[in-house]
Amino acid sequence: MKQQPLLQRYKRAERINHWVVAGCFVLLAISGLGFFYSSFFWLTNIFGSPQLARIFHPFIGIVMFIGFFILFLRYWRHNFLDKEDVRWLKSVKTILKGHEVGDIGKYNGGQKAMFWLMSACVALLFISGIIIWRPYFAPLFPIPLIRIALLVHCCAAVVLISGIIIHVYAAIWVKGTIPSMVEGVVSQEWAKKHHPRWYREMMEKHRRQEQGEKETS
Ligand code: HEM
Repeated sequence: MKQQPLLQRYKRAERINHWVVAGCFVLLAISGLGFFYSSFFWLTNIFGSPQLARIFHPFIGIVMFIGFFILFLRYWRHNFLDKEDVRWLKSVKTILKGHEVGDIGKYNGGQKAMFWLMSACVALLFISGIIIWRPYFAPLFPIPLIRIALLVHCCAAVVLISGIIIHVYAAIWVKGTIPSMVEGVVSQEWAKKHHPRWYREMMEKHRRQEQGEKETS
């Protein structure tokens, strides 16, 4: 049987952008957990020594913030909830049993909710991170504000780490999703099953492209 052509979901630049953010996140989460809890202090050796971890952590935070901001600019338009996503969110139990619900576009309700959660956490981590960054910026702020910022930084990190665990689990659980961010493509069956509205939009785009090519040749 002839295999149907694959659909492009992410271009190379998008994938590099995503994996730079993911790489920074892993380094930040490991070193951050090392600072946060004394039993995890050994994790600060990820950069060779705790001192180096303390120096590198904020700079990598800046790289992740810029990288995520570019991802945000790429995807915010696709992440507004519509009534089909609300239906999807209300049927989570059915979805966890492996059935799909609703006429879903490029992202489902869970992915969209996760996108806004990630955006809020990254923004909070960036703002609070600047306020607590000794010796550069912290001296510019009053001590009570630095204490509040420390609390915000830790809470946002715990929420983001939990969110990313769900993000990765979902990407592995829905078979055929990981190749979208590694090779940039998905099968038509995957698209039809999990994102039927996006599938129709892509097929329509292909049809128009082919028609345009025929007319010019
Ligand atoms: C560390 C391991 C990670 C893996 C294995 C992973 C995997 C994936 C995959 C497979 C997709 C495509 C999903 C689809 O198109 O349906 C995706 C999308 C995405 N990922 Fe990740 N990811 C990881 C980390 C991160 C991190 C740390 C962030 C940000 C803090 C992030 C942000 C995003 C965003 C914004 C999208 C686009 C989806 C949307 O806009 O809703 N990812 N990821």
